[in-house]
Amino acid sequence: MDIATNPTTPDGNPELADAAPTPHEPPVIRREDYRPFAWLVPSTRLDFRLALDATRVTATLTVERNPAADASPELRLNGDSLTAQSVMVDGAPAEWRMEGPDLVVTLPGDRHVVEVVTTIDPSANTQLMGLYASNGMLCTQCESEGFRRITFFPDRPDVLSTYAVRMEGERDAFPILLCNGNRVAEGEGENGTHWAEWHDPWPKPSYLFALVAGDLVANSKPFTTATGRVVECNVWVRKEDLARTDHALESLHRSMAWDEEVFGREYDLDLYNIVAVSDFNMGAMENKGLNVFNTKYVLADPDTATDADFDAVEGVIAHEYFHNWSGNRVTCRDWFQLALKEGFTVLRDQLFSQDMRGEAVKRIEDVRILRAAQFPEDAGPLAHPIRPDSYREISNFYTATVYNKGAEVIRMMRSMVGEARFRAGCDLYFDRHDGEAATCEDFVKAIEDGAEIDLTRFRRWYAQAGTPRVTMRQAVEGDTLRLTLGQSVPVTPGQPDKLPMPIPLKIAVHSRSGALGAERLVVLEDEEQTFDLSIAGPDPVVSVNRGFTAPVVIERDLQREDLVFLAAHDDDPFARSEALQELAVGHLVGAASGALSADDRQAGEAAIIGAFRSSLADNALDDAMRGELLVLPSETYLFEAMAGSGAAGERKADPGAIHAAREGLKAAIGTALARELAALHARACAVALDHPEGRGARKVKTIALGLVAAADPAKAAQLAAAQYDAADNMTDRQGALMVLCGLDTPHRETRLAVFYERYRDNALVIDKWFTLQALSLHPDVIAHVRKLAEHPDFTLKNPNRVRSLHMAFAGNPKAFHKADGEGYRMVADVILALDPINPQTAARFVPALGRWRRIEPGRAALMKAELERILAAGNLSRDTFEQVSRSLEG
Ligand code: BES
Ligand code: ZN
Repeated sequence: MDIATNPTTPDGNPELADAAPTPHEPPVIRREDYRPFAWLVPSTRLDFRLALDATRVTATLTVERNPAADASPELRLNGDSLTAQSVMVDGAPAEWRMEGPDLVVTLPGDRHVVEVVTTIDPSANTQLMGLYASNGMLCTQCESEGFRRITFFPDRPDVLSTYAVRMEGERDAFPILLCNGNRVAEGEGENGTHWAEWHDPWPKPSYLFALVAGDLVANSKPFTTATGRVVECNVWVRKEDLARTDHALESLHRSMAWDEEVFGREYDLDLYNIVAVSDFNMGAMENKGLNVFNTKYVLADPDTATDADFDAVEGVIAHEYFHNWSGNRVTCRDWFQLALKEGFTVLRDQLFSQDMRGEAVKRIEDVRILRAAQFPEDAGPLAHPIRPDSYREISNFYTATVYNKGAEVIRMMRSMVGEARFRAGCDLYFDRHDGEAATCEDFVKAIEDGAEIDLTRFRRWYAQAGTPRVTMRQAVEGDTLRLTLGQSVPVTPGQPDKLPMPIPLKIAVHSRSGALGAERLVVLEDEEQTFDLSIAGPDPVVSVNRGFTAPVVIERDLQREDLVFLAAHDDDPFARSEALQELAVGHLVGAASGALSADDRQAGEAAIIGAFRSSLADNALDDAMRGELLVLPSETYLFEAMAGSGAAGERKADPGAIHAAREGLKAAIGTALARELAALHARACAVALDHPEGRGARKVKTIALGLVAAADPAKAAQLAAAQYDAADNMTDRQGALMVLCGLDTPHRETRLAVFYERYRDNALVIDKWFTLQALSLHPDVIAHVRKLAEHPDFTLKNPNRVRSLHMAFAGNPKAFHKADGEGYRMVADVILALDPINPQTAARFVPALGRWRRIEPGRAALMKAELERILAAGNLSRDTFEQVSRSLEG
């Protein structure tokens, strides 16, 4: 399809462009087609008669002509699988028609009241978008375009309205009735029903609407804001989960206090409700005053949740809370601006978690995620700028690029201007755009004005996809180091030509003598630039992109000894871990491509073992940081490094060779450091659960086990079984089981069975049980997964369960990339089976197959064939069609 000649409809709603697609070609929506909506909707009344299988919705909209838009006599209300039972304008039957899924009403005047009645069936809603049933309760998910599955409405983020909602239902089935804003009235109805009325004073787009009705209990604790207002905070769950809600509630309080202190943002309602539901497509949703959460990001206690789970709960609670300003008070004009709220809010939640848990470790974790998820996306057929230019299905653009690279781009601005000026820019942004639907451009302009910096060129980061490559050359002249930096942005789909972008890099020039240089920020603006830096002593070693100031790949050939030096001595903890990663990446990619001589291989291995030994022995490190230094680069990241910048004819990634090289290195480390690792494990096992060092100890405990397992499986099996049996917390239990799952030992079956029995009634823990088996290093993973898919506890209807088994499998590089293509076939089968049930979740499996172009030809052909098989099946959802077709074109 020629997207350049897409027609635009009279009212300019970009969603209507190309209104008559063939069934296989959903229309392309383009950013440049944006037009304001012809009508304003100052207020909306919704009346719900709730029932699981038939909920009647009466929507009453006051509408006025939008003076800022082209006039149109027609009001287009979006719908998705809805039938109107009655349409009235100003109390009389209206003139209306259906246009595809939408309802179009003809309106003669400038101001009208439009009333539409529909009935929906929440129990049949397996997509989990709109109003749906979960465990007998009713709940909603509206972002991005779910509200149109509840009632006909201008379902776009630039139409803001105040909502008054009345809901009525059986008291026994739905004792608790919640909605956005404040409850203003409640009462008894007939035949065992009751009702509640809610009013949200803040105008909002429809995607922030939420309703929950069910049998729930709350953990409550009031929060007093900086200006002394008392906010009732509730975490609503099923009764049996109440004991696991304290951490979520405390995390909410910490988030509220932090946003006041760091960003000067106070909460703006007297009530903050969080509801946990077990069927949820995503992690959580920031609906105004009524967040809806996946249970996974609410429930936590040491017996059922790992330390990482605790961190995730805290981070997601914070993220959704921070959206109250970055997303809700200032929302998005259209969905192309998604990074405006998501990128910014991810940065805010990252900064919060850095403050709560320590900057270095959190930064290392975030960069690891960026490299494992975003770099591959940026190098593949689905690459897109953080502000995309077009889409067919917006659900496909909630990506690591929009979220994580989006956060990095804003973080770069902050690094360039410093914290105080960044805060001034943010204050100006919130001041200027409060109550509005804004754009990424509005954000950049506010930072530009408020922080006093010229961001003209920097704006390219919003428009260009692809991870920039930065090259380095150096020459010493007296006591100056002349550093020449070059940059290039790789070609990505639809973007053959790229321009240089400002790349802020924190740099220090250390000396191998041990003298450490001062840190300085340089900004590489052009294709090539030279910087003069002063030298701290003889044999200078450049420490670059310290703290990961820019989301780029540094291409340089540093001597092994220099990397070993940085890994042991750099004063930036991030740079230390980075040097070790660089050392390991160079070695593993060399080994996997067969490019290393036997001598080189041995020297590389020895250097890495030496660095690991130093990390184990360095008493100045705490275990949390030590753990980071003992993690080898992920296989996904190694694929990227092996496939290079993706230029034609370049080397391809060989998953089999990478896996073998990485496991080989683990075995070599485990063998060489057997004594040290056993000692570390024993030391860590002696630290009590509640000890301040407990968390770090638990982290290194399992890392040590994993390395031992690669070298001495029998010994690891025995240690892991003992760790499992002695565990008084989920972190140790899961860690031990993870190691056992990869081994051929009778302890594997016995402990898996004990674990299952102990937690059979806890869905979130049973998810872990599925994941451990799907993600394991065991040679028979594919057979295990096939069998687990038949397990009575498995269902394709619950997204957590699907992710726990099949998404975990797709992320298991060894099993997924099995050379005969069985792993690819299995994932393609899941996509086909899941697409009719839950297209959003089905489409999320496509990128794993979509990476075929960067993989060696044998596997690439098998992956491509599976994509073609999916496409040929026909009748695909918009979500899956878009991802598969882009993966084949790219
Ligand atoms: N607004 C999103 C939730 C969402 C995502 C709704 C996609 C509709 C489609 C929410 O703020 C969010 O970003 N949630 C993340 C977790 C967060 C910590 C990054 C999620 O659900 O994964
Ligand atoms: Zn978000």
